[in-house]
Amino acid sequence: MKFFIDSTDIKEIEELNSFGIIDGVTTNPSLFAKTGGDFYQTARDICASVYGDVSLEVSATDYDNMLKEGEKILGIAQNVVLKLPTTLDGIKACSYFSGNGYRVNMTLCFSANQALIAAKAGAAYVSPFIGRLDDSGQDGLELISDIREIYDNYPDFDTQILAASIRNPYHLYQASMIGADVATMSARIIKQALEHPLTDKGLEIFTQDWKKSGLKI
Ligand code: E4P
Repeated sequence: MKFFIDSTDIKEIEELNSFGIIDGVTTNPSLFAKTGGDFYQTARDICASVYGDVSLEVSATDYDNMLKEGEKILGIAQNVVLKLPTTLDGIKACSYFSGNGYRVNMTLCFSANQALIAAKAGAAYVSPFIGRLDDSGQDGLELISDIREIYDNYPDFDTQILAASIRNPYHLYQASMIGADVATMSARIIKQALEHPLTDKGLEIFTQDWKKSGLKI
């Protein structure tokens, strides 16, 4: 399973990347708006800070402007994956870019049929939003499971399931049990997922016993 960090904060990305467990980055317009600054500069910095895929999203909602923005965004770096919304215009733009050899991440996916159509359009990734679906009273993890089943039914599909809108370590655990290809998360959730009180307690006991023993390594 690949781990992507869901962030536009370069310091946070570099810190997490230093642990050797990050395979890429996802961003969205809201994250860029929160960080502020110059879009292109931040995007270039992010792309240079990681070896793997960096998803950068268009702001356009119509096909013609998605094409214009998409071409500019794809020119930022080799590791850019173009992020497009799962709408009719987005699917048309996905077919265009995928057909021309570029990689696309179809975002804001909330149904199995949307994921099926994204795969038909040649998307490299589809991003089902677990947390936002849960917020609306549906089961986000069930959607991951449905998409896994559909994609496994058709081995010709080459689209990876990128579990997004992960809000807690349980979402990560379940997404990995179901077989999502990628999980994108904030640094906070990755750190939370590593924590366990018994690890801390055990380490405290080992440290105390070792000190008392007078032994040396
Ligand atoms: C990632 O690609 C998504 O944009 C992100 O995970 C959305 O998360 P949110 O629902 O917590 O904003």
